[in-house]
Amino acid sequence: MNAPTTPQTGIVNPPAAFASQAAIGSMDAYRALCERAESDYAGFWGDLAREHLVWKQPFTKTFDDSNKPFFKWFEDGLINVSHNCLDVQIERGLGNKAALIFEADDGAVTEVTYSQLLDKVARLANVLKAKGVQKGDRVIIYMPMSVEGVVAMQACARIGATHSVVFGGFSAQSLRERIQDTGAVMVITADEQRRGGKSLPLKAIADEALAKDCPSVRTMLVYKRTASDQVAYQAGRDLDMLAEMAQQSAVCEPEWVSAEHPLFLLYTSGSTGKPKGVQHSTGGYLLQAKLSMLWTFDLKPSDVFWCTADIGWVTGHSYITYGPLACGATEIVFEGIPTYPNAGRFWDMIQRHKATIFYTAPTAIRSLIKAAEADEKIHPRSFDLSSLRLLGSVGEPINPAAWTWYHENVGGGRCPIVDTFWQTESGAHLITPLPGATPLVPGSCTLPFPGIMAAVVDETGKDVPWGQGGILVVKKPWPSLMRTVWGDPERFKKSYFPEDFKGEFYLAGDGAVRDPDTGYFTITGRMDDVLNVSGHRMGTMEIESALVSCTELVAEAAVVGRPDDTTGEAICAFVVLKRPRPTGDEARQIANELRNWVAKEIGPIAKPKDIRFGDNLPKTRSGKIMRRLLRSIARGEAVTQDTSTLENPAILDQLTERV
Ligand code: WT7
Repeated sequence: MNAPTTPQTGIVNPPAAFASQAAIGSMDAYRALCERAESDYAGFWGDLAREHLVWKQPFTKTFDDSNKPFFKWFEDGLINVSHNCLDVQIERGLGNKAALIFEADDGAVTEVTYSQLLDKVARLANVLKAKGVQKGDRVIIYMPMSVEGVVAMQACARIGATHSVVFGGFSAQSLRERIQDTGAVMVITADEQRRGGKSLPLKAIADEALAKDCPSVRTMLVYKRTASDQVAYQAGRDLDMLAEMAQQSAVCEPEWVSAEHPLFLLYTSGSTGKPKGVQHSTGGYLLQAKLSMLWTFDLKPSDVFWCTADIGWVTGHSYITYGPLACGATEIVFEGIPTYPNAGRFWDMIQRHKATIFYTAPTAIRSLIKAAEADEKIHPRSFDLSSLRLLGSVGEPINPAAWTWYHENVGGGRCPIVDTFWQTESGAHLITPLPGATPLVPGSCTLPFPGIMAAVVDETGKDVPWGQGGILVVKKPWPSLMRTVWGDPERFKKSYFPEDFKGEFYLAGDGAVRDPDTGYFTITGRMDDVLNVSGHRMGTMEIESALVSCTELVAEAAVVGRPDDTTGEAICAFVVLKRPRPTGDEARQIANELRNWVAKEIGPIAKPKDIRFGDNLPKTRSGKIMRRLLRSIARGEAVTQDTSTLENPAILDQLTERV
């Protein structure tokens, strides 16, 4: 049963049975695609866009780079994403096929066919129109994982409104910032979110967000998830979403938009300032969301696809709402968490729904390994996972030990693992194995997706030799690349097409190294001040400003990451208070207050794991915080850096002390 492995190198070749049925079944087939892209870049993508998308009006020009780095793809083509995801599938005869298999937190299962999904999307689209939402207007979606969350996104796409989904774990303050930055005219939310047996009052949080300085919002639609009687409706603003849908027609002609029309904005953390609104296009984005389903996930009509991400992240956009539906797939949508009612939930769901492709994050795998090894009943081997044929990993590097466990225990040694490297900005996979072609090496995301000109370069933009670490760039723009930072084109230019590389290369923000023999890429981590905690992206500056905004307590704060066995990285905050440095119980209590403060400012995902107090922070004589030093301290390493320029060496001992 086991896939052939070469023990010296740990290479896992594609099983012959997989390769023989795969869309791309050999390295020769992979190389042929790469060569086509090399020799005729625009032709390569143009042909794919004609083959895989249904256009109302075909485009006449594939690629426009006349205003670098604001690239355009298929611009004069007219298209609608929801038409491609729904009507086209029904026209292909898939009306009665299950589009979504929704499993609620409490285990209740609802199936929604393509016809039923279109009915819901059209009704909601008509509600939006009736409430005055127009093409190009922004709509904030603050929803739990649900059929209705997918419907809300698709309904926006249907009328050409640009959605911005805000993850349900973000605070009122974060939600308000996104409402303000987008100038949204509508918020779609739910009364409550159910996760792990607990309720989170989304509507109340949205009320709090809207209570201050959000004049653009005229309407709030509320999906009754729990029908909680705690929810108050503000007359003239708030409406019961399902009741409104029931009154609307189930027919809604799609709004045909330019391929360049902004489908969505999604906020993500950068190294400086507030999160930026990553703006994605319609045609180029959909093309690669679909193509990566077909090539990376080798999707077949009979597959049951399950991506465990939340629609609040880009993974949930590309691999729940858009990619699978654009292929006419059946997919699982899960409301809950992997550890409720116990840490066997994922395996139980794979067994019950006969999932064939499973895509999750290394953090989830690592936490489930611990649980499974402690309790046989929830070990994957206690479940029938024989339906699985392919596994995927996303969001952070997967360490070889977790990879091997996943491969053996979940994949039964027979399922390839696609370790997909990509980003909110990239829209779709950038570097990833193709499971029928690429020999796998645990811990490496292997080779670029066909057409992605990824490279590792030095500061001058010159390729570094294989085996040498460097800066990960992509040398040509690709169709699903973000188009700009919403409202801040300068920031887009500076962050992603910096002058260091003459504005020619896309800067991913990660470091990488290529294997000296195979050229395989291994991501070595972010090169900027962005942390990756459980696959969630956080800016250190963002957390620092949240801490110092607690003006009563905090004088100064510095945040760094340190490695963590389960969450990948953990947030470590060094804080100087406006009062004498606390110790013991007092320190623990203040640390908790600060954690809750950060949760309120940003969201629980940004809570620092470690908080340490000092009389001040280590600074150079010119007043710069010595972050490298703080990183060593956070890791518990001996300080080897030169501390001779340190103003106050004595505080190092204080900062080493954990609260
Ligand atoms: C950052 C992007 C788009 C996926 C969800 C995260 C890290 C992502 C991998 C991987 C190593 C990875 C990178 C990247 N990352 N996937 N397979 N191996 N690192 O999207 O929040 O925009 O974060 O996640 O550091 O830059 P995101």
